Amino acid sequence: MATTDAVAGTAVDTIHPLEPLSAAEIEATGAILRREGILTGATLVVSATLDEPSKEAVLAWREGDPVDRRAFVVLRDRAARTTVEALVSVSAGAVVSRREVPGVQPSVVLDELIEADGVIRADEGWQAAMRARGVEDLDLAIIDPWPAGWYDEADDPERRLVRALTWVRAAPDDNGYARPVEGLLVLVDLDRMEVVEVEDHGVVPLPPKSGNYWPEAITSAGNHPRFPGVRDDLRTIEITQPDGPSFTVRGHEVTWHKWRFRVGFTHREGLVLHTVAFDDRGTWRPVLHRASLAEMVVPYGDPNPTHYRKNAFDEGEYGIGFLANSLERGCDCLGEIHYFDGVLADGQCRPRVIPNAVCMHEEDFNVAWKHTDFHTGRVEVRRRRRLVVSSFSTVGNYEYGTFWYLYEDGTIELEMKSTGIVSTGAVANGGDPEFGTLIAPGLYAPNHQHFFCYRLDMCVDGPTNTVYEVHSEAAAGDANPHGNAWRVVETPLRRESEAQRTIDPLRGRHWKVVNPRVRNSLGQQVAYRLMPAANVAPFFTDDAAVAARAAFARNHLWVTPFAAGERFAAGDYPAQHPGGDGLPRWTAADRSIEGTDVVLWHVLGAHHPVRPEDWPVMPVTSVGFMLQPVGFFEGNPSLDLARPRAHEAACH
Ligand code: NI
Repeated sequence: MATTDAVAGTAVDTIHPLEPLSAAEIEATGAILRREGILTGATLVVSATLDEPSKEAVLAWREGDPVDRRAFVVLRDRAARTTVEALVSVSAGAVVSRREVPGVQPSVVLDELIEADGVIRADEGWQAAMRARGVEDLDLAIIDPWPAGWYDEADDPERRLVRALTWVRAAPDDNGYARPVEGLLVLVDLDRMEVVEVEDHGVVPLPPKSGNYWPEAITSAGNHPRFPGVRDDLRTIEITQPDGPSFTVRGHEVTWHKWRFRVGFTHREGLVLHTVAFDDRGTWRPVLHRASLAEMVVPYGDPNPTHYRKNAFDEGEYGIGFLANSLERGCDCLGEIHYFDGVLADGQCRPRVIPNAVCMHEEDFNVAWKHTDFHTGRVEVRRRRRLVVSSFSTVGNYEYGTFWYLYEDGTIELEMKSTGIVSTGAVANGGDPEFGTLIAPGLYAPNHQHFFCYRLDMCVDGPTNTVYEVHSEAAAGDANPHGNAWRVVETPLRRESEAQRTIDPLRGRHWKVVNPRVRNSLGQQVAYRLMPAANVAPFFTDDAAVAARAAFARNHLWVTPFAAGERFAAGDYPAQHPGGDGLPRWTAADRSIEGTDVVLWHVLGAHHPVRPEDWPVMPVTSVGFMLQPVGFFEGNPSLDLARPRAHEAACH
């Protein structure tokens, strides 16, 4: 079986079990669903994603083995108000299973958002509210359908709700977020495609200034901020690789230097890494089976009626892959780039291809290691290089950038970048918002936080792993006669209840995933450690509506035993869910996590009391973590790096 359509132009002879669905497979899935009467005129396809085979099947697969290619499809029957999950075997041309999932709401569909926009514009209540604010040209309005969330029974998922907010541009190509229509919320039922309620909490004047950010606009008198011109004093910088990049790509499998892994891309998670392994002097040693964003939530900390229901679960309520950008050479990524397309399904199960959704390139990252031998004069320096696999998604006003880095010393790093435009509100001129920051005249940005939960399905030299919490402390009593002694303390996390933890940077707290069956040449258990970075706790209280829905954000670390259905930290369907699903529900069983296939869930908190400098477009800020080998290798695994070529004579 040969295919070219799945794989960004690179032909593969056989389909690997983790190869994302191709456009042809999505097309075929739609045809099968239509034939079986599951996809009808009243139905929308929310997502169609590869149904990934089990870890055992993936690890046992050998080149040439047949693969039953399956699509997992979520559908919304608008007439019946039901959510349906269908499993389709593309290989067999048949529906394997179909089930109705009662009382849930899947993420929104692009067609619905477009339709809802028209329905709101046609609504007399919305039009009247706009006129009350002196807006005559309603075409200048932009409408963002925010997730409804769940605040009381009126938000129950029987109805399919979004709560839309409105902004007004001064000119058709303006940054609309400069002029929020404060106090106006429109509740829309997407199944019925009708306005349910227009909430108007009273008129606050539209902020007077534009907030444009492109070169032609920033010099305008009406703009905030205003600059005399664009900087022109930087000289050209070129990244060239005359011999081409050092990676090879086959389908979605990447080999770079000593790393091998697969790139995945799903509607909900966006970029996924699979089967990450390191070539240790001729042996491929697995580290990570699957790494993905498992949910995120952005709770806003402003009690104002326009803002307190802003608690977006951008992954489960929209989809990070669904909202992915097409990336451009020279802009998003520099150098020798390889792109992977994102192949998704639209509402009718036609292929929706996002060209260049994932960018991969190498970066020189200064120094890998160095020593000047003072006694002999020997200088040895190695340049450091990293492989970058990245993707950007636009969620309304915000941009999120997922950047995975692989390093030559066995380190894997994740950086989640935030940029784009902060969510805004209007405040009467002269007002100083208590729960936000004034960022331009009459314009403010509410306090908020972003929590990203990463699911790390570990495979440290095999699937049988145990997690230890590690910290350092001063030795006590007779063991510390000089007061200087300190030791590293490792505590196994044996059950799920013991593995719900927060960071403790002053004691050097981190978590180590060991393989109890494999020892290094020093007799130590081989391990990788999760090194947390700066982090924060959520500020919502236990009685906030979002607290139960975003319970995953309460801990920075959760550990669970692998279970196939447990992929999303707030459950499969967080939209309009009252809460408690996902991590809190699964871990209530308090399962053993010792000496088994473990999954780490690491929550990154990006605390965002907004700065005036975040307006009108935010400088990139980021949160992240590292996975580093600990006793996994014999000594420094990057010892064998070659001396820098260009200036070899000068470097030793
Ligand atoms: Ni923010």
